[in-house]
Amino acid sequence: MAPLSGYTDLAYRHSMRRHGCRYAFTEMVDAAALVYARERTRLMLTRGEDEDFLGVQLLGGAPELLKGAIDVLNEYDFSLLDFNLGCPVPKVTKKCAGAELGRHADRALECFALFRERSRFPLTAKIRILSETDPEPTVLLAQGLAELGARVITVHGRVKNAVYSGPVFYDMISEVVKRVPVPVAGNGGMMTHADAAEMLRRTGCHAVMFARGAMGNPWIFDGSVPSVAEVCEEIRLHLREMISMYGESDAMHLARKMVHDYLRGRGFPGEFRGTASRLSTERDLETLLADAVKVHPGGADARCPRRAAPAGGGGVSDRSDRSDIF
Ligand SMILES: Cc1cc2nc3c(=O)[nH]c(=O)nc-3n(C[C@H](O)[C@H](O)[C@H](O)COP(=O)(O)O)c2cc1C
Repeated sequence: MAPLSGYTDLAYRHSMRRHGCRYAFTEMVDAAALVYARERTRLMLTRGEDEDFLGVQLLGGAPELLKGAIDVLNEYDFSLLDFNLGCPVPKVTKKCAGAELGRHADRALECFALFRERSRFPLTAKIRILSETDPEPTVLLAQGLAELGARVITVHGRVKNAVYSGPVFYDMISEVVKRVPVPVAGNGGMMTHADAAEMLRRTGCHAVMFARGAMGNPWIFDGSVPSVAEVCEEIRLHLREMISMYGESDAMHLARKMVHDYLRGRGFPGEFRGTASRLSTERDLETLLADAVKVHPGGADARCPRRAAPAGGGGVSDRSDRSDIF
């Protein structure tokens, strides 16, 4: 399961894990926020007692802040520390962090050397391809990261300017797989369980990382198709946990986009899906779930595969024979 900002908190990860996800990450944590506003990042860093594997992802491009942030993270317990070299959001790239830092390989590697010096956790990195046609720059960046100790490199097969849309360049990922001495996780454009097999086949990568395909669709991990009643039960479990984390009002506000994700493309009438935007209380939620089984044309027991590609953002699903790579 990919790190997804605004999504992959503990409640979200529990939902994914109920359907077979083992390898999951926190959402990206900004180095400056960790150093200067630690309280704000507290919930982002929460690890469930039942989470046997949890990676934390750090974002930043300023060496002093990265050092401070790595020291803070060392006080916690994570399975690994991942460096974000893929975020395309302007407020991040204008500070030469995320995807923009990835485009300046020397600088990115200097930062990653700090990870090696200071972090007590195993290291990984998540990058984007740097060109759609020439594998060389991406391979060089990935090789540099591997030399500095990255145990796994996740490659999103789109360049920075493509943000999250357009084709995924499998041949660029496969070149990294061939030429980098550590396992590679392929990422980008996998909206179904079958898409993961395609990514593995076309790139030879060792693992895949689901992102938007897992939004509102944790069943992507085991490839099963839920019934309407099962979708409703998953929403209930997920949101109840959010309420216990954030309180009713904040949780309902944060959860609206997630309920939309669960309902999208599964045959619920559009008008009904709109009611998710008005969720304010747990009672509203129970009303929505009671209505969901009534308004779905197939009723509670109907299977409701997701038909449309999700619009939003994520997941790591491993090859069963490669569960040792982290
Ligand atoms: C809403 C949203 C939030 C994201 N947050 C992060 C993040 O915190 N860290 C990260 O490395 N990538 C983040 N990503 C990128 C995804 O992890 C993934 O690389 C990208 O969505 C491509 O995969 P997909 O086409 O399967 O969605 C985010 C993407 C979206 C849509």
